[in-house]
Amino acid sequence: MSEKIAVGEAVRRRRTVRQFRSDPVPESAVREILDLAGLAPSGGNLQPWRVFALAGEPMAELKRTVASSEGEEREHQGYPPNLWEPYRTRRFKNGEELYAIIGIPREERPRRLEQLAKNGDLFGAPVGLFFFTERRMGRLQWADVGMLMQNVMLLAVERGLDTCPQGYWVRYGQAVAAATGAENEDLILIAGMALGYADEDAVINRYRAGREPLESWAQFRGF
Ligand SMILES: Cc1cc2nc3c(=O)[nH]c(=O)nc-3n(C[C@H](O)[C@H](O)[C@H](O)COP(=O)(O)O)c2cc1C
Repeated sequence: MSEKIAVGEAVRRRRTVRQFRSDPVPESAVREILDLAGLAPSGGNLQPWRVFALAGEPMAELKRTVASSEGEEREHQGYPPNLWEPYRTRRFKNGEELYAIIGIPREERPRRLEQLAKNGDLFGAPVGLFFFTERRMGRLQWADVGMLMQNVMLLAVERGLDTCPQGYWVRYGQAVAAATGAENEDLILIAGMALGYADEDAVINRYRAGREPLESWAQFRGF
């Protein structure tokens, strides 16, 4: 598990895992990952991130709370309302392909919701990472937290671990804040992340999300 891989290889290997083995991840590994991830750049070196790592009973309790919750008012939305093209189609395609691979047809809404709810179980992962910033921070600071998150995901890959970044937890921002102690400070939950070892036999983990070609989103001038 200590195999060293190049950054490009880690970028290629990282993918969102949606079924984990229950094997625990040692606290030392999580600490090491977060410590290194904290070398992420941030505007003005504000380092505006706050991370809560939960495992064991505190995480189990949060999973139970969310499973029995009737839902909360979200503090921010996962996507802008009335998502437009080409994003609307991309999002739709992602969902369709993912459900197709696990054999859940569009009409079977209860099964789709059941699958969605697995987010609240971290897809079986033993560790939940919750990324916050101060509520009064601006957009650039949210981008800084995103850079920290990407570092975490790549460092996980380097250690044979896998992740699922999860906007899902924003639905339960208050429950997460209560479980982590973030409620005592003026923090806002940006996203959660499942961390653990992929269940390589799981069909859902065979899914590979595609990408748009470089030409469709990057332009080059003056080279
Ligand atoms: C900020 C963010 C939030 C996400 N939220 C969820 C989520 O709640 N549940 C989930 O299953 N995947 C979630 N994803 C994973 C995306 O669906 C995934 O990154 C995308 O489809 C590309 O696939 P890949 O990560 O396997 O390359 C999220 C990704 C990001 C970056």
